[in-house]
Amino acid sequence: MDHKSFIAIKPARNILGSLRVPGDKSISHRYAMLAGLASGRSRFDNFAPGADCASTLACLGELGCAVEWGEKGTVVINGRSAQLQAPGRVLDCGNSGSTMRMLSGILAAQRFASELTGDESLSRRPMRRVIEPLTRMGAAIQSTDDHAPLRIQGARLHGITHRPPVASAQVKTSVLFAGLFADGKTTVEEPARTRDHGELALRAFGAEVERAPASVSILGGQKLHALEAYVPGDISSAAFFLCAGAIFPESNLVIDGVLLNPTRSALLDVLTAMGSRISMLTVEEHHGELVGTIALTPGRGKHVRIEDALTALLIDELPVLAAIAPFTAGGLEVRNAGELRVKESDRLSAVTCNLRAMGAQVEQTADGWRIPGDQQLHGAEIESYHDHRIAMAFAIAALRADGETIIKNPECVAISYPGFFDDLDRLVER
Ligand code: S3P
Repeated sequence: MDHKSFIAIKPARNILGSLRVPGDKSISHRYAMLAGLASGRSRFDNFAPGADCASTLACLGELGCAVEWGEKGTVVINGRSAQLQAPGRVLDCGNSGSTMRMLSGILAAQRFASELTGDESLSRRPMRRVIEPLTRMGAAIQSTDDHAPLRIQGARLHGITHRPPVASAQVKTSVLFAGLFADGKTTVEEPARTRDHGELALRAFGAEVERAPASVSILGGQKLHALEAYVPGDISSAAFFLCAGAIFPESNLVIDGVLLNPTRSALLDVLTAMGSRISMLTVEEHHGELVGTIALTPGRGKHVRIEDALTALLIDELPVLAAIAPFTAGGLEVRNAGELRVKESDRLSAVTCNLRAMGAQVEQTADGWRIPGDQQLHGAEIESYHDHRIAMAFAIAALRADGETIIKNPECVAISYPGFFDDLDRLVER
């Protein structure tokens, strides 16, 4: 093993302290893309620092939007009033599914052709879910068997009603972004509720979006104005520390300025069922998004089952919940999580293999796991599979294992959270 390509994690005694996590990745992508389409200069503080949102900014730069990075996570974007510039080269989305899928919706309506590529992981991920609706709206999209690279010939689009077969906020947002330019009304009917940052961001930039309990619609031809906003802390990043706090009986953790949007905060209910006490110290609303300060103290709880609509809401937190499940009192069962197989890695198998390497008893089902609680794990060599959430999830499990754990290729945490290991060090007592 290359000596630079691993990190050793020693067991911890406790998790103590307070923290502010980096800006939310989902919101940062959407704010940046809409800023590119707005008239005027948008400014975002606490913009997500990871490589994924940097891919979005680089693509926007290539599409003629002047992007400036300031100090401490400030990003300024000069909008082009709905008309982007034809790119001089292929648009590289890196590891970011959000960049590729959501930008496709915008490019489908531009007057030029463009090509989107990604890294090896992104090239394995399914793109039919955006190709199909955007083609139905009028764009011409070439792909390799429904995978990247995507070559998009923009066109005059018409509104559609789209019923995605799988619940996906990326797909919903992509179709709504295309709908912003389409003739007539575009509606997305969701099979299960997904994060609503696309809808909230469109409203924050001045568009009207109509919401019904299971669908969302937009009328084409609306103009966007620039926005100044502070991006709330990413609850999917805070999830790693909250889960760490939940498995140490004496822990005490405060997270400041974290996103509390109800479509993203189901983790707090799960941790509560697992025995933790979570208090909301402050809650505010900024541009439709709830943001607050929360405190966690742990306790022994009951068995938790996550299935159906709840699975869709927790999709990014499932790896870390599974990684801490052996240390909880009641264990965890996850169902209907087949989507985990097509994330940055096959997260279903990645979690199973890594838990087993640490000596855990875990049953992997067709679309989830059954993981008993009250287990004792040992340190092991962990594969990150170059997947940020797998690396971070097992850095947390390692804190409660006996002996040292080695996480291979941990640099992938920079996809969403470049400072993760430093922040973890500050909270861990050894
Ligand atoms: C995201 C939606 C989810 C999530 C991803 C970010 C978003 O993906 O896993 O990390 O910002 O819309 P899907 O929409 O494919 O479920």
